[in-house]
Amino acid sequence: MSAFVVAANWKMHKTRVEARAFVDELRSGLGSLPVGTSLVLFPSFTGLADLVEACAGAEIEVGAQNLHPGREGAFTGEVSARQIVEAGASWVLVGHSERRHVFAETDARVGEKLAAAREDGLRAILCVGETEAERERGETERVLARQLSTALAPLGAQKLDRIAVAYEPVWAIGTGRTASVEQVRAAHQEVRRILSGLDGEGADAIPILYGGSVQPANSAALGAIPEVGGLLVGGASLVASTLLSIARTARPRPLEPDQVSP
Ligand code: PGA
Repeated sequence: MSAFVVAANWKMHKTRVEARAFVDELRSGLGSLPVGTSLVLFPSFTGLADLVEACAGAEIEVGAQNLHPGREGAFTGEVSARQIVEAGASWVLVGHSERRHVFAETDARVGEKLAAAREDGLRAILCVGETEAERERGETERVLARQLSTALAPLGAQKLDRIAVAYEPVWAIGTGRTASVEQVRAAHQEVRRILSGLDGEGADAIPILYGGSVQPANSAALGAIPEVGGLLVGGASLVASTLLSIARTARPRPLEPDQVSP
């Protein structure tokens, strides 16, 4: 069983100084986290290299929030996978709902980014999720299938090994509204079913995270859902003590024998 991933998407928050202070506080609370919890911080590009340095020697990984699919070229303002790797980061978010809906990223573009991330050895969290209107029209499953297969099918079978998926219903992001346990279970089962169709055996190992208004008050309930392999946290990840309390409470399930410390 893979680690339970607790990912902090800081969006356009925190200066480098603020990020370092956050990591100092986070490091002091790491000992209280359940074994098998993997913490990943996603700062702005400007803080990436700095944060990698601040997290050195601690069990905290660092990722970028976006990338451009090209290797290099005349793409003013963009950042490539190679540059992210050079900064020391090991993860990247791809297809976050704000990229799709605020910056008009298409499913095909998301797929190109995912392929580029994989090519350069980054672990990617592919974010998918329906809008409220799509859910009301009964299109949730269709939207998930379209987003997942457009992004993943070009990678080919057996190529999903460095990928995680985050199910983030758009209507739950930054709104204080969390999907119900039943909605999360149904969506995660659907994502797993679609992944199995794309990459039979490999699909089982892909962690599926939930994101959308995760808070300390709901992290235990969300983490207890058997289909949930991690949490992607936005607003509540900006305060170290809050992120720690989410990571502490979100993984009550028993550990597999290979995860128990000797
Ligand atoms: P939120 O954001 O936790 O603030 O809802 C989640 C996300 O955007 O990934």
